[in-house]
Amino acid sequence: MSVSHDGDMAEQTGGDPLFQSHDPIFNRKELLHVGHVPDEDRIVGRDDEIQSVAAEVGAITRGDPPNNVMIYGKTGTGKSLISRHVATRAQDAARSNDIDCAVLYVDCSEANTETRATRQLALSLKDQTGYQQNIPLRGVGTMEYYQHIWGILEDFFDAVIVILDEIDKLDNSNILMQLSRAREARKTDAYIGVIGISNKVQYRETLDERIDSSFGHRELFFHPYDASQLREIMRNREDAFQPEVLEDGTIELCAALAAKKHGDARKAIEILKEAGELARRTGSETVSEEHIQQAQEVAEINRIEELTSGATVHAKLALYALASRIITGDRETYKTREIYKRYVGICDLVANDPITENGLYRQLKEQAFLGVIESEKTGGGRSQGSYLLHRLVTDPKHIVKAVRRDASLEELPTYDQLRENGQSAADRDVDLSSFS
Ligand SMILES: Nc1ncnc2c1ncn2[C@@H]1O[C@H](COP(=O)(O)OP(=O)(O)O)[C@@H](O)[C@H]1O
Ligand SMILES: [Mg+2]
Repeated sequence: MSVSHDGDMAEQTGGDPLFQSHDPIFNRKELLHVGHVPDEDRIVGRDDEIQSVAAEVGAITRGDPPNNVMIYGKTGTGKSLISRHVATRAQDAARSNDIDCAVLYVDCSEANTETRATRQLALSLKDQTGYQQNIPLRGVGTMEYYQHIWGILEDFFDAVIVILDEIDKLDNSNILMQLSRAREARKTDAYIGVIGISNKVQYRETLDERIDSSFGHRELFFHPYDASQLREIMRNREDAFQPEVLEDGTIELCAALAAKKHGDARKAIEILKEAGELARRTGSETVSEEHIQQAQEVAEINRIEELTSGATVHAKLALYALASRIITGDRETYKTREIYKRYVGICDLVANDPITENGLYRQLKEQAFLGVIESEKTGGGRSQGSYLLHRLVTDPKHIVKAVRRDASLEELPTYDQLRENGQSAADRDVDLSSFS
């Protein structure tokens, strides 16, 4: 570092004051990256899950055939982390028994077709070995990739653990069949253990329809973390920040917010990181509870935008309709019919032709599936029949913000406009045109 004559400040920043070399907030920011795999002693509250996954794939380390396993659980419950952790340990344990075990990881949200997934498996096997043959990146089909996979396994390995993460994003399940039948079909002698991971428990039902019994597998369910576990997960990464930067109570608040929402460790860590960035942007020397609160709002809006990004405009309008009813009304839950009425008024506002009430009902069910709303059947007594009541699992303010980020819907009233004009609109039920 060159010593400058400009006094302390420039010395500290290594010359050009435009580029600070010392980050006042973060010390080891990489600890807060989503893909970061923490050391074993930083993994919190998943001992049973680690044991269970190890029990299924562990036979590999003794030269015996493993079980396949499907892991279900909401996002941020440690499924990817624990799978990678156990697979790596199994690989090490196998090695000390002179068993060559490969570990392959595929993120099926990116490699979402059988061709892409098998290509990735083949390429990553090639990477781990001295395999000489060329593996084409395009112009060939799954069969050729499978040939390479079996070939490499045959030549270099006794066993392999294949992690198929976000497997519900795969367009078909053939890969499961191929992997589980490979030995029987004499494609390879290597033992193959598959760890399939899905954020959607619903995938379980469709899986049974998609595959036959040759993919025998155990099932594990990972549960959301509670506040004290989230607290500990974050405490274990406190050194991501410079000493004294995190104000007292910030981690506790962050854990409490994340636990209340979804028990999602990823969100908790993201909020902490975002709070740090906020502090830095605003020139603050410390991260305060206020920063955490703001970061949590940003994170929640991002989450909703992500969840609804693939949804139709009508699904978004339906969500907005429910949110605006909650904002302007005095209840937390609304019937499909009530949401529909508001939805028709909103369609008018953005010059969109409304779909039918039944169509809207299906959209709402779809949203329930995404985890944005919850719907509950309520018996209205014998004469009235039963009906569905829908509620938002998030602050309606966030829904309004997230929906308005869609460029075609930015004309919709803001949260504040809804609040101000709310009561009169609620009285008239459908007519929201006074906002525009
Ligand atoms: N038990 C845990 N201990 C420490 N960190 C964890 C734990 N569970 C999850 N994390 C961290 O939270 C983030 C999300 O975990 P991940 O395994 O990706 O969840 P999932 O795959 O279930 O969505 C990752 O950064 C991970 O390192
Ligand atoms: Mg994951």
